[in-house]
Amino acid sequence: MADLQHIVEEIVAEMAAATERGRIADYIPDLAKVDPARFGMAVVDAEGREYVAGDHATRFSVQSIAKVFSLTMALGMVGDALWRRVGREPSGTAFNSIVQLETEHGIPRNPFINAGAIVVADVLLARHEPREAIAEFLRFVRQLVGDATIVIDHEVARGEEATGFRNVALANYMRAFGNVHQPVEKVLGTYFHQCALAMDCRQLALAGRYLMAGGVNPATGRSVVTAQRARRILALMLTCGHYDASGDFAFSVGLPGKSGVGGGILAIAPGSASIAVWSPGLDSKGNSLLGRRALERLVRHTGWSVFEAGGGPLRTGASRG
Ligand code: DON
Repeated sequence: MADLQHIVEEIVAEMAAATERGRIADYIPDLAKVDPARFGMAVVDAEGREYVAGDHATRFSVQSIAKVFSLTMALGMVGDALWRRVGREPSGTAFNSIVQLETEHGIPRNPFINAGAIVVADVLLARHEPREAIAEFLRFVRQLVGDATIVIDHEVARGEEATGFRNVALANYMRAFGNVHQPVEKVLGTYFHQCALAMDCRQLALAGRYLMAGGVNPATGRSVVTAQRARRILALMLTCGHYDASGDFAFSVGLPGKSGVGGGILAIAPGSASIAVWSPGLDSKGNSLLGRRALERLVRHTGWSVFEAGGGPLRTGASRG
């Protein structure tokens, strides 16, 4: 589909020229060093074709996008029992907020806010030491992508271990409610290492293929999760994947998506495409400013919004309203 390659290149050129690029996350020491001029994009379609442009081959810190993969693993381990410990509602609060935990008895609103992902990390640790849980997580992601070169950036993880006081507070607070079972240091060590997963746009888009394809990794034909579970993960991405900007992301892009403070976004057009964008500058809610704008453009050209009537086919030419 040559047209799609052209669209992706056009979007990347437009984003390269943007002057307002957002602010880099600097609360994690290593992220502050990234060049804000970077922009990458990769689209993998249902037939396995790849469309890439810009800095698509530069690895970045996926941060909270890793929460999609850790949630998938935790559901595989404990199934729906997870929902006794984590909710499925948008929080309407910042990704690192603590306020709701008091009145809601240490049960985080959803698995994509930090508190929810910390509980998920606790679940992944139930049968393991952190080193094994992290290795298993990395193995899982490498399998999704089909790429054994993917690594975790231990410097990023260490930097966050030294400065992640809010996460320490969240974990201790939930432990006090009995919703974190393992020692807090171990849970956070696991969580920080998951967030420090480094991938480029192409690898990230490949990792998301199972969500595009009803739970099956199209490269191997193997089921990663059931079709129902894939739908549910997508529902959570749509409603909670951008924290207190999730409504706005659904409004302007119309795809299930998950952002990270490294500036990446993974977005899924069910049945059509797995898409990764990366631009390190963030908006005031901690989501990639130009990443979102690029996805808006892409959806306008392709008709991939999940709200598109009869949607799906790639349409080019005149911009759609
Ligand atoms: O826990 C943190 O604060 C980071 N490791 C991840 C936060 C994040 O990516 C939020 N997303 N926009």
